[in-house]
Amino acid sequence: MFFDSSFLFDKDALEPHMSRETLEYHWGKHHRAYVDNLNKQIAGTELDEMTLEDVILSTYNKGNLLPPFNNAAQAWNHEFFWESMKPGGGGQPSGELLRLIERDFGSFEEFVKEFKAAAATQFGSGWAWLTYKGNTLDVGNAENPCPSEKDKKLVVVKSPNSVNPLVWNHYPLLTVDVWEHAYYLDFQNRRPDYISTFMEKLVSWEAVSSRLEAAKAKVAEKEKEEEQRQKDEEERLLPNVEMVLESDADDSDPE
Ligand SMILES: [Fe+2]
Repeated sequence: MFFDSSFLFDKDALEPHMSRETLEYHWGKHHRAYVDNLNKQIAGTELDEMTLEDVILSTYNKGNLLPPFNNAAQAWNHEFFWESMKPGGGGQPSGELLRLIERDFGSFEEFVKEFKAAAATQFGSGWAWLTYKGNTLDVGNAENPCPSEKDKKLVVVKSPNSVNPLVWNHYPLLTVDVWEHAYYLDFQNRRPDYISTFMEKLVSWEAVSSRLEAAKAKVAEKEKEEEQRQKDEEERLLPNVEMVLESDADDSDPE
C-alpha cells in the first residue's frame, strides 16, 4: 500500500482545535511510519497481494496477533481517523444517523456521553469507536432464532493499541485516536479536553452518515448471500432426500 503524501486538507485547516504541528508529527511521521513498516513487513509475502482490511483480518489471528497486524491496523485506523474530521466540523448529525443514535442511545447527548467516556477511560493507548453492528444477537440459538431490525444497531466500543473493531465483525463509523501522540502537543495530558474538542469542533457527521449507509448496504448484501447459500444448500440436499424417499418406497413390502 502507498502512503498518500497529500493530506486531506491543508494542515492549518483544523486550527486552533488540532494544530499544524500535531498533524505534521501525527500524520507526517507516525502514520507514515506505520505504512512504511507495514510495507517492509509484507514485501514478497502473500499479504502483499491482499487489501488492507484482509491483512488486518488475517493477521488478527483470533487475538494472537501476527507481526504485521499492528502496522496494518494502525495504517487503516489513521486513514479512517483523518476522514472522520473536517474543518468546521462538530454540531449534530441528522437524518437516519440521528434516528439510529436516538433509538440505540436514547438521545444524541447520551451517545456523546458514552463515546467520551469510552475514549477517556481507554487505559493507555488505543481508540474509541462508534460502530454499526450488523447482528448483535447470536441468532443461531433457540432464544433468538430470528434477527430483527433492532439487532442491527449502533454501539460504542473502545480498543487497545492498534485493534480495530473490524476484527469483531463491527462496521466502524467514527473513531477518535487516544494515543498520546494524538493530543500531547495541543492538550498535554488533558485527554478529556481533546476528546470534547474532537466531538464539538472536528467530527464530520457527513462522513459518519455515509459510512452508516455503506455499512447497512453491506449487511443487507451479506444477508442476501446467506439466504442464497441456504437455498443452494437445501437444493443440494434435496436430491438425496428424494433418493432416500425412493429407496424407502423400494423397501416396501412386496406384493
Ligand atoms: Fe495516532
